[in-house]
This record gives sequence, structure tokens and C-alpha cells, in this order.
Amino acid sequence: MADELDELISQAIDAIQSAPDVRRLHDIKVYYLGKKGQFTLRLKTLAKRTADEQRVYGKKLNAVKADLARHIHQRKEQLDALLVQQRIADETIDVTLPVMDDPLAYGGSHPVIHLLGEMESLFASIGFDSIFSPEIESDYYNFAALNMPPHHPARAMHDSFYLDPTTVLRTHTSPAQVRAMETQPLPLRILSTGRVYRRDSDLTHTPMFHQVEGLWIDQQIAFCDLKGLLTEFVHILLKDRQLKTRFRPSYFPFTEPSAEMDIACPQCAQKKCRLCGYSGWIEVLGCGMVNPNVLQISGIDSHTYTGFAFGLGVERLAMLRYGVSDLRQFFDNDLRFLAQCRS
Ligand code: PHE
Repeated sequence: MADELDELISQAIDAIQSAPDVRRLHDIKVYYLGKKGQFTLRLKTLAKRTADEQRVYGKKLNAVKADLARHIHQRKEQLDALLVQQRIADETIDVTLPVMDDPLAYGGSHPVIHLLGEMESLFASIGFDSIFSPEIESDYYNFAALNMPPHHPARAMHDSFYLDPTTVLRTHTSPAQVRAMETQPLPLRILSTGRVYRRDSDLTHTPMFHQVEGLWIDQQIAFCDLKGLLTEFVHILLKDRQLKTRFRPSYFPFTEPSAEMDIACPQCAQKKCRLCGYSGWIEVLGCGMVNPNVLQISGIDSHTYTGFAFGLGVERLAMLRYGVSDLRQFFDNDLRFLAQCRS
């Protein structure tokens, strides 16, 4: 009986150690140590043996059961660790592999950035330099130098994020005008693009959006230059040479006279719809002749030089160009949406 028991023990240990997975290990455990398991049955048949045999074998069988339970526990730990390693190996991403044959996987520029780039090259083609201007701006550049001294009511048009009493996340790209006038030689033709921030959020406003600022200063620059240039610009950008535009009087402290430029609603062809607020027109940008005060503040002789400036919201134009109805979609980062706006 002793030999047969030893044989069974080594068989069990072999089986445990070579168990290929946790499930198989469980079966092995049941086979040897379960209610009807090999060792359990032998314990049960001990009753038929002599008292001496019961003592010796009983002790041995119990020791064997404890020993096997330990082996099973060890093997289980090994298998668990292997499983983790296997998962790590399986889930490793080889970033050097070529992209799968899925057009989305190639990526592409965001429609807003794409349009920004288009505008920059359009203006570059007529001699506008792209300049950088910071997003964290001082009260001076964002407001005061643009003819908005403290307590000027126009400041209320810009619901702002202040970082401290004199520092603000720029509410528009117009501070770039001042920075350019301070540093660049005249005549001056600059474009400045980037993010701006306002406390606003609804269907047509997000707290962060993109603007493009243009400024042209030279001798004898007149309002007709502004009109001609901007009309040509929207015709090219919105790919419609016949698109009707109008310049509506408006107010900005840094331009005089000021105007908003509207385009005929491309959605309803001026039949009046929700998109154009049932007016037939959609506002696309603010503009005007640079206010002589602004020129003087930056040290430019306003008797010799004149200029015009304009500022536009890129998302607004992107909505028109790509037929998007909710501006917030631009920032949801849904690839299916982004992929549709690629031309
Ligand atoms: N900065 C103005 C705005 O954000 C737009 C503007 C720019 C108007 C330049 C006139 C000239 O609303």
C-alpha cells in the first residue's frame, strides 16, 4: 500500500506541476483531493484497517493532502503570473508598425487648424506676415492700448478670464495689432492667429475659440481697400465668387469707422432660416479703419499713416464652410465628424 501511495503522490505532483492552466489545475485538485478524490477515498477506506495502520496511514494521508494543497497553491500562483505576462505581451503596441488600412488612422489636421492655415497662406500671398502674439495678455495690450481705458463700457463686451487684476487670457487677437505697431517698421501688413477666451458657452459660443486678426497700415489706406480685400477673401475662402456681402456700421473702440461684414446666408440663399436668425445675413467679421487714438498710443503719426484692421472667428467660418450647425462639435474630438471636414 505504501508503494501504491507513493506512486499516486508523485503522479499527483507531476500532474499539478504540468497543469497548463487554472481550469485544468482545478480538475486535478478535484480528482485527487475532492470529495470523491483519490486521497479522500483512501482516507475513507482506512476504517477497514487495523488501528496501527490507521494511525500510520491516516497521518501520512493527511500530510500528503496538506502537501498537495501547497503544490496546487504554488502552481496557481505561477499560472496567474504567466497569465499577466501573457496579457502584457499581447497588449503591447508596436508603435513602429505601419498604420492599418483605415483612412482615419492616418490622422489629419483639425478643420479649424486647416482653415487657419488656408487663411495664412491666402494673406501671405499678398504680403501679410504671420506674427505670434501671447495668449496670456496684460490689461494694457488687451484693452488699454486699444482705446479701452479702465472703466470703458466696451470692456463689458468681453466677458473675460482674469488671472490677476492686470493679467487676462486675451479676449481677442487685437492685442497683436499693438504688438506689431510697437515692433515692426512701417508700412505694416500682419496677420495673427490663435486661441482667444471668453466666458461664453452655448450653440454658437465656446469659452475658447480661434480668431484671425489682420492689420494693414500705410499711407493712403482707405475704407475701399478694406472692403475690396475682405470681399475677395470670403469669396475665395467660402469658394463662392457670387457670394453677396454687406458692410454694416458697428462699433469697436479701436476702429473708426467700424463695421461688421455679413454674407448672404449660404444655407437658405437669403430666404431666411434659423441659421441666419431669419435675417438672410450672417455676420462673419468685425473690421474698421484703425482709430487714430490707437495709432498715437503706439507712437505712429496718424496724420501720415492710416490703416485698417479686421478680426474674425475661425469656428464661425468653419461652420459655414463645412455646414456644421453646432460649434461645440469642433471640440468633441469625434473622429467621424472631424474626417468629414477635410477639404
Ligand atoms: N477684436 C474684435 C472682436 O473680437 C474684432 C475686430 C478686430 C474688430 C479688428 C475690428 C478690428 O470682436
